[in-house]
Formats: sequence, C-alpha cells, structure tokens
Amino acid sequence: MILAAGRGERLGAPIGKALVELSGKPLLRWSAEAFVASGAVVEVVAVARPGEEAAVEGALAGLGLPWRVVPGGERRQDSSLAGISAAAGEYVLIHDAARPLVGPDLIRAVLEATVRHGAAVPVIPVRDTLRYAAGGFLRAEGPDRAGLYAIQTPQGFRRELIRTALEDAVRRGFSLTDDAGAVLLAGGRVAVVPGEARNLKVTYPEDLELARALLSFRG
Ligand code: CTP
Ligand code: MG
Repeated sequence: MILAAGRGERLGAPIGKALVELSGKPLLRWSAEAFVASGAVVEVVAVARPGEEAAVEGALAGLGLPWRVVPGGERRQDSSLAGISAAAGEYVLIHDAARPLVGPDLIRAVLEATVRHGAAVPVIPVRDTLRYAAGGFLRAEGPDRAGLYAIQTPQGFRRELIRTALEDAVRRGFSLTDDAGAVLLAGGRVAVVPGEARNLKVTYPEDLELARALLSFRG
C-alpha cells in the first residue's frame, strides 16, 4: 500500500508530492517499481488525494502487478485506513510515496519480520545529538541518543492488527505520523529491521535534490 494522499505543503509543488517528477518518473512510480522488483507483494493499492485519482492511475499504468487507486483522507491515519480496507490478504506493507528510493531488499526484510512478529518497521540509528529548544535556547534535558532510532517505511503488519489499532487511535483522537505508532498505543509490539540510508523522505525541495544526486550515483 502506497500512501500518496498528502498535500506536499512543505515541498511547495503545484501538484501533489507523489506526482512530482524525480529523474523522469513520478515519486510514487519509483517505490511502486521497487515493490514489483521485490517479488514480495501480490498487488499495489495506492491511496490518492481526492481529485488526483486519475493522475495517480496514470503514474501506475503498465506496472507489472495488479494495482488500484482509492481516495485518501484528511489525515495520514485516515488515508492508511482507506488503503487497508481496500487491500486483501493477511499482511500489508504500508509505504510513503514520499520515500521513492526504497529498495527491494528492504521490502523483503520488512515482510519477513512482519510474518514473524506481526508488525515490523525499518529504523536508522540517530547520529545527531538531540535536544529540545525553546525561546532560542537549548533546554538541558533531552533524550539519550543511545537506543534512539529514526523510523522509515515500509511498515509491515498483520492487516487485522493495524486496522483495529488505527481505528482505535482515530476513536481516541490521536494524531499519528506513522502506522506503527497506532500499534504501540494499543500496547502491541513492533519489531525493527535495519533501514537504508538512501531511503530518505522527500519533505523539502532540497530532499528532492538529494534523491536526484543519489540516483545519479547508482549507475
Ligand atoms: N499522506 C496521506 N494522506 C494524508 C497525509 C499524508 O496519504 N492525509 C501521505 C503522504 O502522501 C506521504 C506520507 O503520508 O507519502 C508522509 O507524509 P508527509 O511526508 O508529511 O507528506 P505530505 O503530508 O504530503 O507533506 P506535507 O506534510 O509537507 O504537506
Ligand atoms: Mg504531512
């Protein structure tokens, strides 16, 4: 499942972020092709911004797997739930269209850990020192970097597990930036697998430049 229903406000493009071109292909197309190459999935469900369905269908035309497009919702968790309801099968991998450089190996590793543990996400150890700041100055208290990870997608789940966890989070009024957060709120366990440094999230225009540069190195 590829989430492509965001506004892309921080990128500031005139079209939805998932449709923005990266080295000749829409962002969404890059990750869709990685899922096909992984051999790990049987269908692709893309969640589009209402009104952009036709353009997203165009971006998926000729993909080497069955695919379909469903409309998303106002918040990320609403879009996730829309995609999960449209998907079939026991397991689902939920990926952000904003991460075009995900690789087939990572997709397979997440699926494997998901089948084993019920929920799994790729993570990267945090390299920078992290502190809170307020009013222009650092605060003394901050999280210990040891054991702290940045979380990527795709995130894998037993489909019923993530469906009930997200429905619960929505009912309780939480606002989530990823799907694993819903499982954690419900008291569930989420396994981690090593993420990929190149699996960056395109958030700001400079991220698009970075992705372009990484692609030109792939050869
Ligand atoms: N997303 C979604 N539905 C929403 C919000 C986000 O499907 N209502 C998806 C985006 O399309 C993106 C992923 O969630 O692939 C991660 O979100 P983010 O990077 O924040 O993308 P946007 O919300 O599009 O960007 P911004 O926050 O800058 O508007
Ligand atoms: Mg957003």
